[in-house]
Amino acid sequence: MNQDDLKKQAAEAALAYVEGGVIGVGTGSTVNHFIDALAGIKGRIEGAVSSSEVSTERLKRYGIPVFDLNAVGELALYVDGADESNGRLELIKGGGGALTREKIVAAASRKFVCIADESKLVEVLGRFPLPVEVIPMARSYVARELVRLGGTPVWREGFVTDNGNLILDVQNLEITDPKGLEQQINAIAGVVTVGIFALRPADVLILGSAQGPRTIA
Ligand code: A5P
Repeated sequence: MNQDDLKKQAAEAALAYVEGGVIGVGTGSTVNHFIDALAGIKGRIEGAVSSSEVSTERLKRYGIPVFDLNAVGELALYVDGADESNGRLELIKGGGGALTREKIVAAASRKFVCIADESKLVEVLGRFPLPVEVIPMARSYVARELVRLGGTPVWREGFVTDNGNLILDVQNLEITDPKGLEQQINAIAGVVTVGIFALRPADVLILGSAQGPRTIA
């Protein structure tokens, strides 16, 4: 089984958590498999709140209604991928650049089910460069502040988020205190969102593996 097969396996296992209503849907290649699987049971749900333009387009192509979060209030379930997870289900997200909307939908959901292939499970977060969404005029200032925190920020040149902002990918961080670092980076003026999901971690992690889906909760 290749990595994409394992992503698909985790995505399909997440269908067991779908109980109807409006579902929060994340972004990325693993979530694309989830959307494909969701299409098969779309009669059981009212629709979705999406975390990106890309996912919205895919959902709509399947005829799954997409709602504005403001119109639906709290969601029972959010399904999304991750770039890394530790054993406490604290995550790094934002490899696809959709971290701000993902964090909003995760915060507005009672249960966050994270789907990934097993290579995403790590001891310590930080090998994957940490995405930080930044207001354009603050790019250099925020980069200097991130250097003071011990990181090496790299501007994701040519990329603009769905919110019209920029991404700095911070390399060389060993994130031993994810909650503390999330708060510290969020407090830098000009930062919109940091891709650490520790203050609101996942509730369930489904990992695709050669032995079948493994669930950590
Ligand atoms: C999107 O911004 C990210 O947070 C994704 O959830 C993350 O990058 C996982 O992507 P894949 O499912 O493509 O590995």
